[in-house]
Amino acid sequence: MTAILTARNLSKTYGATRVLHGLDMSIAAGESVAILGQSGSGKTTLLSLLAGLESPDGGQVFFDGQDLGGIKADALARLRGKSMGIIFQEYHLVPSLTARENVTLPLEIQGDKQPGPKADALLERVGLAARARHYPHQLSGGEQQRVAIARALAADPRLLFADEPTGNLDESTAEEVESLIFSLIAEQGLTALVVTHNQALAARCSRILTLHLGRFG
Ligand SMILES: Nc1ncnc2c1ncn2[C@@H]1O[C@H](COP(=O)(O)OP(=O)(O)OP(=O)(O)O)[C@@H](O)[C@H]1O
Ligand SMILES: [Mg+2]
Repeated sequence: MTAILTARNLSKTYGATRVLHGLDMSIAAGESVAILGQSGSGKTTLLSLLAGLESPDGGQVFFDGQDLGGIKADALARLRGKSMGIIFQEYHLVPSLTARENVTLPLEIQGDKQPGPKADALLERVGLAARARHYPHQLSGGEQQRVAIARALAADPRLLFADEPTGNLDESTAEEVESLIFSLIAEQGLTALVVTHNQALAARCSRILTLHLGRFG
């Protein structure tokens, strides 16, 4: 199997706190990996390093064999836009754009001149066709996260990251939204790395990794 993403001896320290202790991991095409771990165990830190949003202070991340540490910031941002979809805990939608415009934006950045139909199909799939012209502040938390899911998938990323995508939602909405993400992963055969606290949903992934104080265990 060809690895899409490989981390080698990855370490990260914030001030005097060593958060990640020499992690090694690899994700193959078509694999879905759930990351479990207590609060503070380093899950978000790990995702930020793997997506090239932050730099490790030891070790390397390879995407398609390319060392992210050797790529300049603008090229890295282009690579992320083209190849990675990221779903954050706090949605991070653009407040001045409608739901539909939030989904067409990454497509326009990729040079798609007719991004509408694809955005509409994705909004339909996440159950938000009727809310396409609403702005983020007019949407509930669960609806905003559905828009963020559609946006993350818009550019057909090779790798989807989701960091506790439902941390800010009530229990039943959280379960619905998270279940939607895992259904999309299965139905589209996405390669994905998902941080979750939900063991039942994690079990739907092809592999589970558990972080304990910055180490896999
Ligand atoms: N920018 C930062 N500066 C200083 N310390 C940080 C920073 N980011 C994270 N940390 C510390 O690193 C540790 C791991 O944080 P991280 O956010 O990766 O945990 P997590 O596993 O995602 O937790 P949660 O489940 O609560 O989201 C924590 O002790 C946190 O306080
Ligand atoms: Mg976190």
